[in-house]
Amino acid sequence: MTSFATMEKATQSELRLAERMSRLGTETAFEVLNKARALEREGKEIVHLEIGEPDFDTPKNIIEAGVEALHNGWTHYGPSAGLPELRQAIAQEVSHSRGVQVASDEVVVVPGGKPIIFFTILAFADVGDEVIYPNPGFPIYESMIHYVGAQAVPIRLQEEKDFGFDVDEMASLITDRTKLIILNSPHNPTGGVLSERDIADIAEAIGERNIMVLSDEIYSRLVFEGEHHSIMSVPGFKERTILLDGFSKTYAMTGWRMGYGVMRPDLATHITRLMTNSNSCTASFTQVAGIEAIRGDQSSVDRMRAEFQRRRDVFVAGLNRIKGFSCRMPKGAFYVFPNVTTTGWKSKKLADALLEEAGVACLSGTAFGDFGEGYLRFSVANSLENLNKALERVDQWTKRNL
Ligand SMILES: Cc1ncc(COP(=O)(O)O)c(C=O)c1O
Repeated sequence: MTSFATMEKATQSELRLAERMSRLGTETAFEVLNKARALEREGKEIVHLEIGEPDFDTPKNIIEAGVEALHNGWTHYGPSAGLPELRQAIAQEVSHSRGVQVASDEVVVVPGGKPIIFFTILAFADVGDEVIYPNPGFPIYESMIHYVGAQAVPIRLQEEKDFGFDVDEMASLITDRTKLIILNSPHNPTGGVLSERDIADIAEAIGERNIMVLSDEIYSRLVFEGEHHSIMSVPGFKERTILLDGFSKTYAMTGWRMGYGVMRPDLATHITRLMTNSNSCTASFTQVAGIEAIRGDQSSVDRMRAEFQRRRDVFVAGLNRIKGFSCRMPKGAFYVFPNVTTTGWKSKKLADALLEEAGVACLSGTAFGDFGEGYLRFSVANSLENLNKALERVDQWTKRNL
């Protein structure tokens, strides 16, 4: 029998983690949320503009489909790649929205959009391979590239290009070791949207090279001006694209954990193997609700988009009236990314001060990579009342401190 003494000794011994764990990053949003919650426990009142999730509840028809699925016994394992009917619904939706013919064996359903990032990078990037990714950008890209021991090659997003990037610069970053290029439109954290022209230029720069593109389109239904465009629609690119989309942002289903990848069928079998090895499958009743999300009434998606747009307009106009803040109008997603360089404060220090002294939780641009210095990210997934309160508090703070 193990005595208490030996157990204690075992827990005190050094954790002999694999070396790669030292290279795994994280998402600062969750850390800031924890810090904000700690301040709330001390009695402070915080406006939460740090976390990237819709504040709306999941539409009722989807919840009801999920509850009914539970009552009807959708509580067992399902196929690793997803329920056939959901894969079919996704294939039809993507065929329609991206204008390319997609079959259900090209769809892999996974628990959220994130696993597609995880699996794609695991599947393609070996030690020493290069992956080009947007910076500032969703921090999981860089974290995962480092984790697998590949070389993270940032492409700098430029405010003056409405947070697009210089395609010639991207072309100059491509080498024989480039395995993967990551695109994200609409973009987190900047709200930038790639135009049809941008996508065509990027496709032309990649040319015939055998490089895969991970196209993160999780905010595809949140475009405020113009239309969403995908590199998957460009002739010759379907078989080099892994399209990531999902339910979290579109249908306010972040906690349900369901997303998908669309890719050529031979790759889908490998990504499915990663699913079998990690999750077995995405929760079955969740997937039944997903069928309703895609096939059912879409008016809630339009309503949520209109509301995000209204809040964006108010918040951007308000920020532009505050000393030291200058903010472009984002074209998609639900984030605004003001330039704060003229405050003279470093982004992280400013974000910390706004949380601690003004009670407004936001993220430093550097939470999204080195090129995020000089910016803050605010999520407008909060009520207009709270957004106005945040504006007022930031304004007062700048008047006291700048
Ligand atoms: C750009 C981007 N990709 C992927 C995800 C992951 O989404 P999910 O919650 O479905 O895993 C997020 C979530 O914030 C995101 O911003």
